Amino acid sequence: MPQYFGQLQTLEQLWSTLGDVQSVHQDSRHIRFECNGPILVLSILADNLIRVRVSPTETLKPRKSYAVTQPDEEWSAVDYQLNETEEAVEITTSRMRVRVQRHPCQVQCFTPEGQPFAQDTPIAPNPHEEFPSPNHNPQASVGWRLNSIATWKHIEADEHFYGFGERTGLLDKRSEIKTNWTVDCLDYGNLTDNMYQAIPFFMALRPQVGYGLFFNTSFWSQFDIGVSQPGVLRLEAQTNELDYYLIYGPEPAQILQTYTQLTGRMPLPPKWALGYHQCRWSYESEDIVRKLAQEFRDRQIPCDVIHLDIDYMRGYRVFTWSPKRFPNPKQLLGDLAEDGFKVVTIIDPGVKYEPEGDYSVFDEGVQRDYFVRKADGQLFHGYVWPDKAVFPDFLRGEVRDWWAQQHKDLTEIGVAGIWNDMNEPAIALRPFGDSHEKIDFPLDSPVGEPDEGITHAEGHNLYGLMMAKTALQGLKQGRSQERSFVLTRSGFAGIQRYSAVWTGDNQSLWDHLEMSMPMLCNLGLSGVAFVGADIGGFAGNATAEMFARWMQLGMLYPMMRAHSALSTAQHEPWVFGEEVEQICREYLNLRYQLLPYIYTLCWEASTTGAPILRPLLYHFPNDTHTYTLHDQVMLGPWLMAAPVYHPGVEYRAVYLPAGEWYDWHSGESYQGPTHILAHAPIERMPLYVRAGAIIPMAPVKQYVDKQPLESLTLRVWPGEGEWTMYEDDGHSFEYQQGAFSTTTYRVSREGEKVRFEVSARQGEWKPPQREVVVEVVGVGEQRFSDDGSDRTIVS
Ligand code: GLC
Repeated sequence: MPQYFGQLQTLEQLWSTLGDVQSVHQDSRHIRFECNGPILVLSILADNLIRVRVSPTETLKPRKSYAVTQPDEEWSAVDYQLNETEEAVEITTSRMRVRVQRHPCQVQCFTPEGQPFAQDTPIAPNPHEEFPSPNHNPQASVGWRLNSIATWKHIEADEHFYGFGERTGLLDKRSEIKTNWTVDCLDYGNLTDNMYQAIPFFMALRPQVGYGLFFNTSFWSQFDIGVSQPGVLRLEAQTNELDYYLIYGPEPAQILQTYTQLTGRMPLPPKWALGYHQCRWSYESEDIVRKLAQEFRDRQIPCDVIHLDIDYMRGYRVFTWSPKRFPNPKQLLGDLAEDGFKVVTIIDPGVKYEPEGDYSVFDEGVQRDYFVRKADGQLFHGYVWPDKAVFPDFLRGEVRDWWAQQHKDLTEIGVAGIWNDMNEPAIALRPFGDSHEKIDFPLDSPVGEPDEGITHAEGHNLYGLMMAKTALQGLKQGRSQERSFVLTRSGFAGIQRYSAVWTGDNQSLWDHLEMSMPMLCNLGLSGVAFVGADIGGFAGNATAEMFARWMQLGMLYPMMRAHSALSTAQHEPWVFGEEVEQICREYLNLRYQLLPYIYTLCWEASTTGAPILRPLLYHFPNDTHTYTLHDQVMLGPWLMAAPVYHPGVEYRAVYLPAGEWYDWHSGESYQGPTHILAHAPIERMPLYVRAGAIIPMAPVKQYVDKQPLESLTLRVWPGEGEWTMYEDDGHSFEYQQGAFSTTTYRVSREGEKVRFEVSARQGEWKPPQREVVVEVVGVGEQRFSDDGSDRTIVS
């Protein structure tokens, strides 16, 4: 286990270090620094993106990255100047300057204005100073020992750290250690380190300066952000080459744009996946599912998706249905579809070990040798829901093709999405229930394509990523004309390309309600925009008040799903009494009204990598008040929420950054920066809008595909603003052939009046005949029939 390596290192073997630069060689984009054996190679990939690699030997081994989708050769050529002096080699692009010092070899970066960032700093002091080693220079910044390589960088006094994938705790990760190794982090809390997702990426921010760093390794890796040594950031990986990318911003948006150019962006989801998802472990029979669906429609509570947890299967055998509880899934799914419900089924990686049975997934997998084996050739097994189980090697293409094919029976009867769980992978040593002791494939288990020669030490973090990729592949094959939905618990950098992510087994605790926001925001700042947490909390029982608050907050989650565990109280919107039911209805209605806005945010995420849910620092990166503000969030550029996270609280402080703001509920305006005290009785989550906001809203409906949008309300708040709305049919792939449209709106003040301009609709997609209502908040409304032409309204 990786922890074992961690312990070995505390024996403090001396690091061998990167020495002086002896010679420099350059081709069009790579600069190679030879340091008496070891080498450092800089690749200039964009004017704000450089890749740094160090090898203790004279060569860099070719290595496939499962995270990076745009390899070095595919970046367009960059104009840069190279300047050599006796002390250093300097590379200057239009957006950053990199200085490689020669004695010893160190990397130092500067903004165009000359501000330093991501500066190498000398290695930690050597505790064995009395035993000097010829290979150890305490002034060096890169070192290697045993099976490990590390580099040390300076943390600026006013620097803050975000991202790191899925992380508990608050927003800023300075003074924390973040390890990248996927685990089933059951009972996680604020201090948990390893999580379900491992995304070795962060961004560092201080006024006017922001950069991102992607550690390009799927081996165990770790960021020590000033814990072992204050002011020093250590990056360490249990492999033998150092490989990281530096991205200059300075703004978070620019960092994410480049990071997601490197590792990919989310595909446009079907619009229904932005509706409300209802889940429970489990809705365990057809009857229960039908009643659940009926309840939503009878009570006029919008819902689009029902998730089926493990009990729909026959004895937890993946790709089967329980003949007893779900005797006619096709009929069930058909009836649900008529009523506007989509069904998502859970698929776990563990395949029941059943040599004597009649289970084709096991038989075929064994026959074709698709399950993970140990180094000695023995089939690996562990225990999961179906008891003894074996595990497909998703790092192999033919295994993925086979597994993808297994989804056919599900898609044929109408399953519209797949929920991948336990894919860290989570495996028990003994039968479930006997003990909680977890095991893993041995680190030396061979995985991946035979010619790749990799082992689980490198493949571990990729297991969830590649399983989710396979689910998407299966859905694409079975539903070739329709977009589908994939949800995963585990993943690695780049997971956004395949799947939405939820934050696993949270708890029905106020702390967890509060923690969900910084967690989702940091995921968003790690390139993963389509994210959610289990509304109401998974483990434990929400109180009525907690559930109401959680539904208000959940309305802001990009992926909005309520879920609860086996043996907990029911958590549906109506079980907490009329008042809470009405609050749920109201906030779900608001969610559905906001769908044209949220859908456009998805388009933005899929084309630029921008998060959907954003911490305030994303829009106000030079306002240091936002740096640790974890309890207010922005949904897109215009809407800001200040939810309530504590019982019995009816008032809360709200920070409004510079500019003019409006209270969503009352229309009252405020001039920021300022703090205000918001009144937030149980039925109200404080919501604010920036002046100049243009928010497209749809009529309330019970599910997304209910009827086409036949009226569109543009709510406009006086000020200066511009915004482009994206539209298409919301479910097919035709947008990829150009069947989409964008409309740009602009609002400005003209003396006492408000001027609102619509630019002619661009693109091939035509919305159905509809009326547009322009509602200038506090001023009045005007209507026109939407013919796609430009127009100006002054009110
Ligand atoms: C895991 C999942 C949870 C699911 C349960 C049963 O704990 O995280 O969401 O309900 O397994 O499948």
